[in-house]
Amino acid sequence: MNHFEYIDGVLSAEGVSIPELAEKVGTPFYCYSTATLERHYKVYAGAFDGLDATVCYALKANSNQAVIKTLAKLGAGADVVSVGEMRRALQAGIAPSKIIFSGVGKADAEMREALDADIAQINVESIPELVELNRVALDMGKKARIALRINPHVDAKTHEKIATGKAENKFGIDWTRAIEVYRDAAQMDGIEITGIAMHIGSQLTDLTPFREAFTRLAGLVEELRTHGIEVKNLDLGGGLGIAYQGETPPLPAAYGQMVRETVGHLGCHITLEPGRLIVGNAGILVSRVMYIKDGEAKRFVILDAAMNDLIRPTLYNAYHEIIAVDEAGVDDKMATVDVVGPVCETGDTFGKDRKLPDNLQPGDLVAICSAGAYGAVMSSTYNTRALTPEVLVSGDKFAIIRERPSIDDLIALDKVPGWLD
Ligand code: LLP
Repeated sequence: MNHFEYIDGVLSAEGVSIPELAEKVGTPFYCYSTATLERHYKVYAGAFDGLDATVCYALKANSNQAVIKTLAKLGAGADVVSVGEMRRALQAGIAPSKIIFSGVGKADAEMREALDADIAQINVESIPELVELNRVALDMGKKARIALRINPHVDAKTHEKIATGKAENKFGIDWTRAIEVYRDAAQMDGIEITGIAMHIGSQLTDLTPFREAFTRLAGLVEELRTHGIEVKNLDLGGGLGIAYQGETPPLPAAYGQMVRETVGHLGCHITLEPGRLIVGNAGILVSRVMYIKDGEAKRFVILDAAMNDLIRPTLYNAYHEIIAVDEAGVDDKMATVDVVGPVCETGDTFGKDRKLPDNLQPGDLVAICSAGAYGAVMSSTYNTRALTPEVLVSGDKFAIIRERPSIDDLIALDKVPGWLD
């Protein structure tokens, strides 16, 4: 459920009309709804009521300070994958005791900063990384609290670029070697074992792979106990999918029930790392139609947003619903169109054979839906296009939470060597 609706024939974010925002901010821009963020967080967190659980929002999905702060106020912790994200979490007021540092390769400087900040746990993904973290911690006279991320060799049945739990994926330590590596870790003076972590992929629309992976994880926890190794924290990762195109992903309550059934008996603390589910449907990308081109084979609607603003369709063939901001005409005659951006690549296409009003004109606004997760954070300045601004709405208020930088600022980042003067 989200709070983007037509009010008096015009798409609105809660109590703010999108054309009004477009007038004030310029297009394209991302628009997020506070009520939707809050609702998603509460429904998700509520699915674990009665369990000893912490929801560590995966910042990678959307790391704007205002978004993090909205969730932090509701009690969210953070799952971070870089020192940059860790600083964002701390700056937004998330306590170090609620921050988990994940990721396949952490640099020494990142390990040092995480140890200095005294965050809850560092998730280690390989033996060399474990050895390095031990070395860094000893050098600092500290002990690093760690979980080993275990790769359970389970097919998440999602897009190949966002599946992470198969043997051929780069993530984690093979589950077949887990006991051996935990026993090594237990011997390291700079390491304190606190947990075990898994994350099998993103945009999962079925509970079966989760169930398989968490059952495997429970087996490992029990086996570790027979070796005298106690893990207190089970980090189950994120991954629960959302509806982009009529999918019916399991409800958080069903996911919560499955978590209870698979690992609830172990008496451990549980950490969850949802990203997409919290922010995905809480954001839209608003763009203006620049031109309508009737080609021989197709009609193209050319937007002022492009693949640099939202890369998901290009990168994963992802589907995002595209709707007209002005409701008039939506149910009248619809045309079949390809919605594209102005970047010089055929891949700069937001959607093929979409239905938009036949009377859509240059200057009209469209919204690309479900763009709150992995949208703004994955944007770039390709084609020397300025980063897209972000706006947060709350009731009838709105605030620009990231400005559109100037092109001059962008060019000023380049430095010309003296010999070219
Ligand atoms: N925890 C870990 C260790 C992760 O790697 C991820 C996502 C999450 C949690 C959050 O997963 P979520 O709940 O959002 O599914 N850019 C891609 C998605 C990449 C996901 C990477 N890892 C996309 O646009 O679909």
